[in-house]
Amino acid sequence: MIQIRDKHFEEFLTEKDIQAYIKTLAQKIDEDYKDQELLILGILNGSFLFVADLARFLTIDPEISFLKFASYEGTSSSGKVNDLIGLNEDLTGKHVLIVEDIVDSGTTLAHIMSLLKNKGVGSVKVATLFFKPEAYKQNIPLDYVGKEIPKLFVVGYGMDYQGKGRNLTGLYQLKA
Ligand code: IMP
Ligand code: MG
Repeated sequence: MIQIRDKHFEEFLTEKDIQAYIKTLAQKIDEDYKDQELLILGILNGSFLFVADLARFLTIDPEISFLKFASYEGTSSSGKVNDLIGLNEDLTGKHVLIVEDIVDSGTTLAHIMSLLKNKGVGSVKVATLFFKPEAYKQNIPLDYVGKEIPKLFVVGYGMDYQGKGRNLTGLYQLKA
């Protein structure tokens, strides 16, 4: 058991488990993109370790870039505006793979997909290391899923609890 700030967590998946899921995903991505130019777009902050390991298992040579949500209080009626920063490259005709650490409700993913619309991309697919199917509220297909997990709060391997725990090499679940 480990403690992060005020909460206790217990190991749910080991580093070895996680690396095996990533290797399997890399093999599929290698095969699917062997004849196409791939642009990997990792979503920060959570995906930094996953992109780093996935990219090194790949034998194809993708372009790799990152996007981040900038949350700020807007003046619109909704009050809060979420914009993506880092979307600088020309995506016209590119085969884009969105890389997420975890998909929960899918709200984040839906937002990213809507921002990529009308940019003339050749194709868009989604890779996520972890997926909580019981929490998912979208119908956007997830093309590459490392591992489905129950609706639990987890930390480690990129994911945080109040900014901490991202550097854990395994995945830990909140202890009830
Ligand atoms: P969604 O928009 O509900 O799908 O949530 C997606 C984002 O919330 C992920 O990219 C994570 O950054 C974060 N997230 C979702 N579930 C967890 C969790 O269990 N632990 C830590 N972060 C999470
Ligand atoms: Mg994230």
